[in-house]
Amino acid sequence: MSPHRAQIVSAILLLILAIIGICLLILPVKEVKMPAENMYGIVLDAGSSHTSLYIYTWPAEKQNGTGIVTQHSECNVEGGGISSYAGKPGGAAKSLQECMKHALKEIPQSRHHQTPLCLGATAGMRLLSIINHTESGRVLQEVQNELQSYPFLYKEARILTGQAEGAYGWVTVNYLLENFVKYGFVGRWLNPGRSTTGALDLGGASTQITFQTSQKLENQDNLMKLTLYGKTYTLYTQSFLCYGQDQFLRKLLAHLIQRQHATGHLINPCYPRMFNISMNLEKDIFDSPCTKEYRPAQYSQMTIKVVGNGDYNQCVKTVSEIFNFSHCSYSMCSFDGVFQPKVTGSFMAFSAFYFTQKYIKEITNITLTSPSRAVEAAKLICNMTIREIMDKTNQSEKYMKNICAMSNFVQILLTNAYHFDEASFPSISFQKKAGGASVGWALGYMLNVSNEVPAESLSVMKALPPKCWSGIIFLFVVFLLFVLVYGMMICSNANIRGEDFRF
Ligand SMILES: *[C@@H]1O[C@H](CO)[C@@H](O)[C@H](O)[C@H]1NC(C)=O
Ligand SMILES: *[C@@H]1O[C@H](CO)[C@@H](O)[C@H](O)[C@H]1NC(C)=O
Ligand SMILES: *[C@@H]1O[C@H](CO)[C@@H](O)[C@H](O)[C@H]1NC(C)=O
Repeated sequence: MSPHRAQIVSAILLLILAIIGICLLILPVKEVKMPAENMYGIVLDAGSSHTSLYIYTWPAEKQNGTGIVTQHSECNVEGGGISSYAGKPGGAAKSLQECMKHALKEIPQSRHHQTPLCLGATAGMRLLSIINHTESGRVLQEVQNELQSYPFLYKEARILTGQAEGAYGWVTVNYLLENFVKYGFVGRWLNPGRSTTGALDLGGASTQITFQTSQKLENQDNLMKLTLYGKTYTLYTQSFLCYGQDQFLRKLLAHLIQRQHATGHLINPCYPRMFNISMNLEKDIFDSPCTKEYRPAQYSQMTIKVVGNGDYNQCVKTVSEIFNFSHCSYSMCSFDGVFQPKVTGSFMAFSAFYFTQKYIKEITNITLTSPSRAVEAAKLICNMTIREIMDKTNQSEKYMKNICAMSNFVQILLTNAYHFDEASFPSISFQKKAGGASVGWALGYMLNVSNEVPAESLSVMKALPPKCWSGIIFLFVVFLLFVLVYGMMICSNANIRGEDFRF
């Protein structure tokens, strides 16, 4: 072989080597997305009306303690919330089994023992612990024993405080909006330095408002300081027990019964005209600490017939009477004597806020963008028959009988209570999901718990961090160009010397 021929052969070999190098680097990247490379976490959101199980996932490599968590899947537990199993031993544990089986299937077996599992109970259990503290403790213990029987990394099962629930909701909203950190396309984490978004949550038994503020907090109970990604946030947070959707509706009926001194028959201005339903005074209305103040000394009969007359003016008046706007010992209050600074910035309203807004839109075609639009929509809805409402929403009577009351409740809560006005109301966005994850407190709770999961040391062959990977790709591309230039030089030398390069 002539020296020249050897040069050509070596150039071709180098070219092949460069291409193979690039291919090898590109191919294994797919593996990064494979389930085995991910971590998982399970949160059970034990609400007052039902329990949902959420599975979250994040890459094994973590950024400053908190992973890039996304929602993997969701499972809705059949039946009522865990608090509805008070006095029914075994019921709460059994209700969770179907969704726990789902989690066993969804999460790769090799990851089970590393998957944190936690259950947070909210206002339903807070109410049960007021009624019978021993019984709420028993339900929680039963649920804890059930969760510990799975191969997951059991963390806790507890009743979250109203403040924690509000703060975790706020963390979820801002995490999903990437207000804390953003994964840039250059493969680096950036602090976007954006202002944060407030959280408005409406559950079955309580409602929460949480936002970042620089105003002075006159009641320290409302103060929450959170440090995330090295930055400290000062939050105002307040949870109103008994102002969730279901408990508010109970209070409304109880208030009407008290005012009308009703025994067998009750007129409800918030039910559609001609609509009537029979209710059990104990089970449907007074069996809750929220309606205790309205409870008559004794009932002459257990059932009551509630008849609607679809009267907007009477309904809005009755709904306002559920709130106490008169007494305030601070410079500013929302209602019931609770301190609240002026709302500032943008807000995200989720859970029952989202659904009420959605039904209002379907029924009236009105988008909730201002207090006056909200009033306009409520007037239209309260004037409709149950048939008209059900035809527009395709929802059952069970929910739709309350839509006039709920339209007024949401309008009064947002404007009269939280003081959103024509200028600030448009900054509320109603959302159920963001970035593929359900908006609620569960993800924020998960982020907190996932901090305790030890980060994995990475094997370079399996998953290079994006930054490192692009660096190596760059080197191979430079190598490839170098080889090509080298090859061309050999060719031009050959041409100058008039040789052909057969071999
Ligand atoms: C509270 O629950 C316990 C069982 O956990 C039961 O023995 C007790 O009778 C209940 N008390 C009331 C007042 O219902
Ligand atoms: C992660 O922590 C390091 C130092 O602890 C800091 O320099 C870096 O900015 C942090 N990254 C983010 C995204 O906060
Ligand atoms: C109650 O509803 C039924 C139909 O569902 C209707 O026939 C009846 O007249 C209603 N009663 C009242 C008092 O409105």
